[in-house]
Amino acid sequence: MHTASAHRPLHPQGASVYTARRYLMCPPEHFRVTYSINPWMDLTKPVDSRLAMAQWSDLRDLYRSLGHSVAELEPRPELPDLVFAANGALVLDGRVLGARFAHPERFGEARVHEDWHRARGDGEFQRAQHTNEGEGDFTVTASWLLAGHGFRSSPLAQQEAQEYFGRPVIGLDLVDPRFYHLDTALCVLDDRRDDAVMYYPGAFSAGSRAVLARLFPDAILAEEADALALGLNAVSDGHHVVLPQAAQSLLEPLRARGYEPIPIDLSELLKGGGSVKCCTAELR
Ligand code: ARG
Repeated sequence: MHTASAHRPLHPQGASVYTARRYLMCPPEHFRVTYSINPWMDLTKPVDSRLAMAQWSDLRDLYRSLGHSVAELEPRPELPDLVFAANGALVLDGRVLGARFAHPERFGEARVHEDWHRARGDGEFQRAQHTNEGEGDFTVTASWLLAGHGFRSSPLAQQEAQEYFGRPVIGLDLVDPRFYHLDTALCVLDDRRDDAVMYYPGAFSAGSRAVLARLFPDAILAEEADALALGLNAVSDGHHVVLPQAAQSLLEPLRARGYEPIPIDLSELLKGGGSVKCCTAELR
């Protein structure tokens, strides 16, 4: 078990008490870039599958060493993006809202997630009517759902999620195609609070930036370079923040708020346009 570091929080965020999490991941056995549905996916850049698998295994093992449990989906050769398990559903309060993908290349993934959740049977499952890419565009604070739209998930999915989960949904407009999912532009650092996030303002419309400033006056604001390293595509258990190692300038602000950043190298997965969070679905 990884223990909290000795440094003293300077800020009430990032208390060293963190909660054990349950994650769902999918090994990148068949991860390739065979189509391009976001600006990161370059068909001329080959993926080193063995390196992808080694980096992914490091992430899974890190979670386990922190005391979290990780379940695994069976990889499918015809679904190379299945490694981005965060997109398959939103699981919250024992309810599962399945994904409905925006691009035909990924349609089949919704069923893989649905079958997995139904077989496990520890919650109610609902198929989505409107396009939503799971935790790619939905994230959770203590009281709210934050929801991105503009590239993948439909604004109508926000209504659907609010009705299904009974939580207020705050819609955020994404405007930069490099940050096509909310989880590439914003990360909730402590889901037991409503005020602990980091985000890259440039990914959002002017109105959504104003909403974020109003809701999160103490947020860590990322620079473009950290956003481009997919530094916001991070996973926090309320204390440890696992993030891509190239996002160097986020480390100090995280430590100053009492969090323990843990950088990790997922460079091969970046070729698909994803990193730590994309590979990690949380079963809440
Ligand atoms: N290649 C995938 C896509 O474009 C990457 C998904 C990344 N996942 C995420 N949660 N942002 O759909």
